[in-house]
Amino acid sequence: MDEYMERKVEEIYGKTIRRRAPVRNPRVAKRILEDEYKLVVDEKTITLVYAAFYNGRPVLFEGPPGTGKTEIGQALLELWSGKEPFILPCSENYDEYRVIGDFHPLIAMKKGFTEESFIPRPILSALILDTGVLIDEIRRSSEEFQNMVLDIIDKRRIIVPELKKLFKAKGLGFQVIFTSNPEDIGQNELSDAFLRRVVRIEFSYPRRELEERIVNMRTLDKPSLPAGTVNYMVRVIDILRQSNILYKPGTSDLVEWGRLAQLVAKILGKEKVEIDDAVEAAYAVLVKRPEDADTVESVLSRERDESLAG
Ligand SMILES: Nc1ncnc2c1ncn2[C@@H]1O[C@H](COP(=O)(O)OP(=O)(O)O)[C@@H](O)[C@H]1O
Ligand SMILES: [Mg+2]
Repeated sequence: MDEYMERKVEEIYGKTIRRRAPVRNPRVAKRILEDEYKLVVDEKTITLVYAAFYNGRPVLFEGPPGTGKTEIGQALLELWSGKEPFILPCSENYDEYRVIGDFHPLIAMKKGFTEESFIPRPILSALILDTGVLIDEIRRSSEEFQNMVLDIIDKRRIIVPELKKLFKAKGLGFQVIFTSNPEDIGQNELSDAFLRRVVRIEFSYPRRELEERIVNMRTLDKPSLPAGTVNYMVRVIDILRQSNILYKPGTSDLVEWGRLAQLVAKILGKEKVEIDDAVEAAYAVLVKRPEDADTVESVLSRERDESLAG
């Protein structure tokens, strides 16, 4: 490994990234994800991801928005390598200069295209630091970009022709997780060639009991969220997902709703969040498109009546 670049990457990123002991046992990882990251992930998913990593294969998390793909991906990469991963939110105009490295124009003018004027970017830096990269919303990138990344993962090395240099991965820490939402309209399809090379894991909305647990884990201690209120919220969310509304709420929206309802109840000086407080907070979280307002309204009031009657 090139020492100059290693020192440079260490100087730029090394001191700021979080570090921890790596965890490569799926069962232990599951527990840490719950206790420290407040993420519920089933052990099978973790095992598959780790198996892919042992094989040096990239992983693709596919599923609807708000199902934890980004946060779980980030946490798993961190547990695997023991270092915080790099996050790359994709855009149409990503190219190798923005993800591998480029030259500082002023320094390059003085010193030429040398290592001194070269600025290492996330993928090269991750390879040098031996940590992971989360490539978020891969469908928003070009096919050319996708192929470039796959080639790097396959060969576990990066060539920078301008420097006449080859950088090799040092250990198993350098791994990639892609995320994607297949229902997002107007995004690029992933090619068969891409899909063939990744280990694909599908994400879906959790079962009701699991969502109730997630809300309880992620909301404030006070004012308390009674089981009846949580159950009401989870039911409303589940029914809305199956309706024809434009904005489908994810687990992330459910958690936001729970927190907002708590704040509403708190401002009103209550000890407990009642269903009416949840209704009060609902519109801000669940109606993201004006066209959805009527459906949300009717589901909220129908389920409220149901709860109060039962
Ligand atoms: N399995 C889960 N465990 C805990 N929280 C979850 C889970 N899935 C979703 N969430 C909630 O959603 C948020 C993360 O969503 P995010 O990773 O952005 O989803 P995506 O990338 O799929 O759109 C978390 O902050 C949490 O509130
Ligand atoms: Mg995401």
